[in-house]
Amino acid sequence: MTTHKSGDPTTLNRLYGRSQGKPLRAGQQALVDNLLPQIAVPEEGEVSSSALFGDDRPLHFEIGFGGGEHLAYRADLLPDHGFVGAAPFLNGVVAALGHIRDAHLANVRLHMGDALDRLERLPDAALRFVYLLHPDPWPKARHAKRRMVNDGPLDLIAAKLKPGHEFRLGTDDPTYCRWAMMVMNRRHDFVWTAQTPRDFLTRPDDWPETRYERKARRQGHEVWYFTYIRV
Ligand SMILES: C[S@@+](CC[C@H](N)C(=O)[O-])C[C@H]1O[C@@H](n2cnc3c(N)ncnc32)[C@H](O)[C@@H]1O
Repeated sequence: MTTHKSGDPTTLNRLYGRSQGKPLRAGQQALVDNLLPQIAVPEEGEVSSSALFGDDRPLHFEIGFGGGEHLAYRADLLPDHGFVGAAPFLNGVVAALGHIRDAHLANVRLHMGDALDRLERLPDAALRFVYLLHPDPWPKARHAKRRMVNDGPLDLIAAKLKPGHEFRLGTDDPTYCRWAMMVMNRRHDFVWTAQTPRDFLTRPDDWPETRYERKARRQGHEVWYFTYIRV
């Protein structure tokens, strides 16, 4: 199995930023106590489709799912596929649990913590889709190594994605947009599918708006939608 730690020791090996906000209400705490343990990615062992879902189904992985609305939408759209989402922020995990309960989604597994820790336990080429939507921008140049779009995490994503399958990246941050194009364009293991500007300025129909994207649009930001195929 490929690990990101060996790939690029200077890149994100730990989480940055906060992990909890507002205190939970009783109903939210009940979701954490009852539903989360049932659908949490196990602490040990291979993170494979058969280990998580008991069968061999196409797997999707979302890095930093925020409030989980994209993850839940995709899981609802593709009930025969398996979805794994990771995010460190408790209130976001609670929001995702709420979507999972409300939509009766049986095909989602969550990890509250670093996505890369779980990603590296997947068998190589196990994934059909990887989603990275509005990653933290880390706008200062001296923090650029914390950006998820860096060769360490990308090596890991490349290893876990099956050739011919998709890595979706969305951002509303102009610095991140240019950075991502620079980093992705010099890689030989991903091809960018865009043929015209319309392809990256228009959200694909099966790519729902996230909470963060909605906020960005309200603030008048442009949003870029990148789709790469693992070669
Ligand atoms: C700007 S928010 C976007 C959230 C969501 N994708 C959306 O579009 O609404 C970025 C999220 O990535 C999460 N994040 C940062 N590093 C992460 C990591 N290593 N593993 C999982 N999530 C991470 C942060 O906690 C934060 O919630």
